[in-house]
This record gives sequence, C-alpha cells and structure tokens, in this order.
Amino acid sequence: MNSVFITGASSGIGEHLAYFYAQKKITLGLSARRREELTRVAKKCESLGAKVFFYQLDVKNSDDVKNAIQNFTTKIVTLDCVIANAGIGKDEKILIGNPEIINSVLETNILGVTNTLLPAIPIMKNQNFGKLVAISSVASFIPTPNNSGYSASKAAVKMLMDGFRLKLSQYDIECITICPGFIDTPIVTKNKPTPMMLDVESAVKKIARAINQNRKTFIFPWQYKIILPILKLIPDWVIKKLIA
Ligand SMILES: NC(=O)c1ccc[n+]([C@@H]2O[C@H](COP(=O)([O-])OP(=O)(O)OC[C@H]3O[C@@H](n4cnc5c(N)ncnc54)[C@H](OP(=O)(O)O)[C@@H]3O)[C@@H](O)[C@H]2O)c1
Repeated sequence: MNSVFITGASSGIGEHLAYFYAQKKITLGLSARRREELTRVAKKCESLGAKVFFYQLDVKNSDDVKNAIQNFTTKIVTLDCVIANAGIGKDEKILIGNPEIINSVLETNILGVTNTLLPAIPIMKNQNFGKLVAISSVASFIPTPNNSGYSASKAAVKMLMDGFRLKLSQYDIECITICPGFIDTPIVTKNKPTPMMLDVESAVKKIARAINQNRKTFIFPWQYKIILPILKLIPDWVIKKLIA
C-alpha cells in the first residue's frame, strides 16, 4: 500500500493509524475539523518519514470531502485505501424531546461515511483495486439506552459496507468493516464501565492487520464474538443494568 486517506485524523484511532502508516512511509491524506490538532499530527507523521497532505473539513459537508479526496488523488499515483474513521458519540438526551443531538450523531456517523467513501469509488474502479474501510463498532450489535443513535449509526455503516462489497468486489475493491470494543480515546466516557478496554496503539495494530488481510468484518477484542450472540438472548432489564 502506498497511499491512505483517513478522516478523523486529529485524535484517537485516526491519529494513531496515521502514525502507523507514516512509519511505513505511506503517503497520507489526513482530515478533521480542528486545524491545530491536524497540523500537530501531520508534523509528527512527516517526522516519521511520510509525505503528508492535510485537509481541514467537516465530513458532513460532501463537497469538501469530495474535493479533498480528489486533491489528494492528484498528489499520488494510486488511491490505495480510504478509511472513514471520523465519528462522534454523546449522551443523546432523548428525554428532553429534541432531536438535535441524535441527528448530529446519525449525520456524522452515517453520512460522514458515505461522503468519504463514495468519491473514492470511481477512482478505485478505474484503477481496478482499492480498499474502502469504515470504522463501525461492537455497539452496532447492542442497543443502548443513552446512545441509541450511535448504535443505529454503526449498524447502518455495517449494512452499507455489506452492500457496497456485493457491488464492488467485481472491481477488486475491498470493503472492510472494523467493529472495535472499547479503545482508550477521547470519545470514551471515562466515568462509565469500559470492559476489556484496549490502548489505542494495540488497537491500531489490530485494525491495520485486518485492513492488510482484507477482513470483511473485523470484531475485536475476540471475546465479543462470544459475548455478542449471548447478549441477544439476555432480557432488556439485564442489558439496562449492564449499560445504563
Ligand atoms: N474509542 C472507542 O472505544 C471506539 C469503539 C468503537 C468505535 N469507535 C469509532 O472509532 C472512530 C474514531 O473514534 P476515536 O475513538 O478515535 O474518537 P476521537 O478521539 O474522539 O476521534 C474522533 C475523530 O473524528 C473527528 N470528527 C468528529 N466529527 C467530525 C466531523 N463532523 N468532521 C470531521 N471529523 C470529525 C474528530 O476530529 P475533529 O474534532 O478535529 O473534527 C476526531 O479526529 C469513531 O467513528 C468511533 O465511533 C471508537
């Protein structure tokens, strides 16, 4: 792989994926909203030996993401991998009856992914190869009382990727869905239980390996492959006690 475009590269998983690929001298397209943080990450990637192009943008703005990907494509030989990583999660406060917060979660986490991956498809189709990666979550399998929009958005991302794969495999475009459990990044609410939380560096190594191996849906830590089917059998009142 020679080039990777990553959204949400200003912190957490995206930031550390950028460092991982920078060490391998892969040319990087990095994007996020916060310019200062993005500059900090870009500088560190350059110091690790990578060529870096960065784009301050909001993934909710489809034109901005498309322009960034098209600009990045002019700087590289082939667009090898696009990682739709940007995402938000917050208490959606549904009891106050205002859809603003939940809608911002749905918009960022679903439309942010389609805004990022769709512009790459014609480019990868012409090349006859490429990897589209979306960061979903184990939350896509689990309904949650305070983050139902987050779980729904991650389930939507998984289903989108499953459909894209059916359409795009004929062009040798791989569609890879990553479903992590808790990873120690700023998105995680620290005063709530975070079972089996991984540090971000170890998590990124696992994600990069799954991308390298073209895994269709990569769920980790592995214990979730056992826990998730069991959770489906557990009554709602137990789930509420575990998650609320
Ligand atoms: N950490 C976990 O436990 C965990 C588990 C499963 C899945 N995930 C998923 O992993 C992805 C990365 O999250 P993280 O854990 O690394 O959290 P994070 O540190 O909060 O990173 C989120 C990134 O997304 C960017 N972002 C958010 N909204 C954006 C927008 N509208 N436009 C552009 N960029 C935006 C943020 O940058 P700016 O604020 O600068 O824009 C930041 O770089 C998310 O999709 C998250 O849902 C995380």
